[in-house]
Amino acid sequence: MNKGKVDVLLGLQWGDEGKGKVVDVLTPRYDVVARFQGGPNAGHTLEFEGQKYVLRSIPSGIFQGDKINIVGNGVVLAPDLFMDEARALEQSGHPLRQRLHISKKAHLIMPTHRVLDAAYEAQKGKNRVGTTGKGIGPTYTDKVSRVGLRVGDILEDFQQKYAAAKARHEAILRSLNYEYDITDVERRWMEGIEYLRQFPIVDSEHEINRLLSEGKTILCEGAQGTMLDVDFGSYPYVTSSNTICAGACTGLGLGPNRIGEVYGIMKAYCTRVGAGPFPTELFDETGARIRDLGHEYGAVTGRERRCGWIDLVALRYSIMVNGVTQLIMMKSDVLDDFPEVKACTAYRVNGQLTRDFPYNIEKGVEPVYETLPGWQTDMTRYTSQEQFPAAFRDYISFLERELETPITIVSIGPDREQTILRR
Ligand code: GDP
Ligand code: IMO
Ligand code: MG
Repeated sequence: MNKGKVDVLLGLQWGDEGKGKVVDVLTPRYDVVARFQGGPNAGHTLEFEGQKYVLRSIPSGIFQGDKINIVGNGVVLAPDLFMDEARALEQSGHPLRQRLHISKKAHLIMPTHRVLDAAYEAQKGKNRVGTTGKGIGPTYTDKVSRVGLRVGDILEDFQQKYAAAKARHEAILRSLNYEYDITDVERRWMEGIEYLRQFPIVDSEHEINRLLSEGKTILCEGAQGTMLDVDFGSYPYVTSSNTICAGACTGLGLGPNRIGEVYGIMKAYCTRVGAGPFPTELFDETGARIRDLGHEYGAVTGRERRCGWIDLVALRYSIMVNGVTQLIMMKSDVLDDFPEVKACTAYRVNGQLTRDFPYNIEKGVEPVYETLPGWQTDMTRYTSQEQFPAAFRDYISFLERELETPITIVSIGPDREQTILRR
């Protein structure tokens, strides 16, 4: 942790790497946790004291004492879903009204954005992205088209602005011949707007820079993963925001020279939910076994996650575009029983071997694997790296060598306590 800098924690694969768990573990080191992009498409799971929580729009620092949690300008917020999420936390004994600050510049996901999301997916047919259906794409589209509604808009002439935006969406939906009924949803959405007013609605770029100059320590929490980044991910099968480290600058109003440590999170294997290419995907029993042991079902939609071996070509690329300084490896316990594990070290693209991530991974990409001996040891109760078996140490050293980045934290189970700090 460097004074005057923010640290950024983000996913290096296709999401669901375990960001929520690690943010919760690291929060005691920080004064502030801030989300900088994405919205309720995220599902960040935390487990401690026998309880399990799934956060969607609220930063994962909310459970660790009196920390300030900021929802930054880069986030898109659905007031009705936010209300459900925040109320559930309040009811479970986690007050958050004073500690959760929301940027005026965050964009609002309207009910018609969700309808548009469904309509566009239906129109794409077999080329659909497999979105989470939360209206993410249409909301960011409106932001970039300069017609979006922002949280700050609820402070003045809101009904008028809402009606104008809705009318625009209705015209598009008519042109698509898309049938829908949002009567009930809209009522709850408006209730959500009233609920939102009870939270500090702030100029978060001023706040975060002031906190930094006061010497406060800040952790920025990414959502989704680098391979879902709108610029660098497996386009067009991506989300609609910049999930990479630079997103923390635009999504919070931070200068690039403010970035300190960049924690890159990866699973010991790889998963993807939704459509799109996935070079190391396993369609066999091993893939099914990883899914079962890792409980690989979406935290938001309950969809089956596609599973495969760790992809070091994609990870090297992710490390590069994010400037990752430390790696965090999650869910190695899922592989505890495996007699051997594989890692994709290169791709063969049309007969040519490459270690660089190619422009197009949709066809003609064949993963080249290195096979390593499994450790075949239940490590879920371990408390220090001294207990790691030799084969697991070798696996870590192999990854560090291939990725040229140190692995500083290893997660050996979903609970907060099942975390080994390596330095
Ligand atoms: P996120 O979106 O990156 O926060 O990740 P998700 O919460 O969507 O998915 C990660 C899943 O793995 C959650 O169900 C976590 O409880 C679980 N998890 C996190 N770390 C570990 C780990 O080290 N081992 C196991 N077995 N599960 C883990
Ligand atoms: P967390 O933060 C995994 C995927 C969707 C779809 C694509 C676009 O929990 O890691 P969208 O609704 O964003 O327009 O969908 O991105 N996707 C995720 N996959 N984890 C996520 O979030 C995701 N958020 C979106 O499945 O393929
Ligand atoms: Mg998730």
